[in-house]
Amino acid sequence: MRIHLSRPDITEKEIEAVCAVLRSPNLSLGPKLAEFELAFAKYIGRKRAVAVNSGTSGLFLCMLALEIGPGDEVITTPFTFIATANTIMMAGAKPVFADIDPVNLNIEPAKIESKITNKTKAIMPVEVFGNPAGIDKVYEVAKKHNLAVIEDSCEALGSALDGRKVGTFGTMSVFAFYPNKQITTGEGGMILTDDDDLADMCVSLRNQGRAKDSGWLAHARLGYNFRLSDINCALGITQLSRIEQIRAKRRQVAKWYQEMLAGDDRLIVPAEPDNCDMSWFVFVVRLADTFSGQQRDRILEAMKGCGIEVGNYFPPVHLQPFIAKQFGYKEGDFPITEAVCKSTIALPFYNNLTKDEVAIVCKELKEILNTQTD
Ligand SMILES: Cc1ncc(COP(=O)(O)O)c(C=O)c1O
Repeated sequence: MRIHLSRPDITEKEIEAVCAVLRSPNLSLGPKLAEFELAFAKYIGRKRAVAVNSGTSGLFLCMLALEIGPGDEVITTPFTFIATANTIMMAGAKPVFADIDPVNLNIEPAKIESKITNKTKAIMPVEVFGNPAGIDKVYEVAKKHNLAVIEDSCEALGSALDGRKVGTFGTMSVFAFYPNKQITTGEGGMILTDDDDLADMCVSLRNQGRAKDSGWLAHARLGYNFRLSDINCALGITQLSRIEQIRAKRRQVAKWYQEMLAGDDRLIVPAEPDNCDMSWFVFVVRLADTFSGQQRDRILEAMKGCGIEVGNYFPPVHLQPFIAKQFGYKEGDFPITEAVCKSTIALPFYNNLTKDEVAIVCKELKEILNTQTD
């Protein structure tokens, strides 16, 4: 590949921080864990932060802490990464989907209410691609119906809506640190909440069900090993200390794309909504309605053919075969999501992508589009 879809941004500072842990006796459950959690809680502005080994583990622990299980329903978006719905299913509950807003691509708050039943326990919105639009309205619907919100903020570290940071809307909120994310710990995730009981439960569940102040071999409940090592935490602390620099770099890359693709009516280019401070996760353009899904797939292949890595973020979650089969979802259930999913092209996007590389991606994309529209 000439240009990759995503690359981590690791400096000497990160390497030194990781090496310092490797030279210490505390590779896990050491001082870096508490330091990372404190720094993260402070950055987002919440009382408690609980580090875990992935965003998926974090979302799953939220389900357990909120006592969501078999017989319960959780309302979520069909336009997301599969882990959102998977964690509902991992808890034994049913993911109930509501279609998305065609502009910001997040769950449409007005479509949530008709999905609420006496089995609904929570709403799980996602700030997809880092876009926080509509999260405040989801929160209002939840409040009106006395439902918990599990905010899947895995793609949106640093985004804010009307000055309020993403990760502060949920009863519990979760971030993820896979290497394509705004900050990385290699693998990792963070649960945020203002509720001490929920946070303490997650601390126990991530560590084999050990109770606070009990011994290493005393277990109060069924638990897991979802711990994040001090090696990962040291990486996270250093990355978090650079978050504003990282966000600025990503904003610049997004701006280059916006400028170079402006005025091409074959494409819908993402823009920052008015009242949002967007933390760019990926840069996903959409093809105009005149293109078919097959044409989009051919364009993806052609881009890859000239050495540019691209992605089809995302296929509809409700049509993933194991989910469709278990819950009876079918094509046509969520038409906006299905139309959007056939039109997306995720372009290469990362902190250190250069202006020249962005120019190559845009030139190749336009040339390939010409071959489709000739
Ligand atoms: C919306 C969303 N939810 C959940 C996850 C899961 O995070 P992880 O890959 O760290 O388990 C991701 C990560 O890609 C995501 O994008």
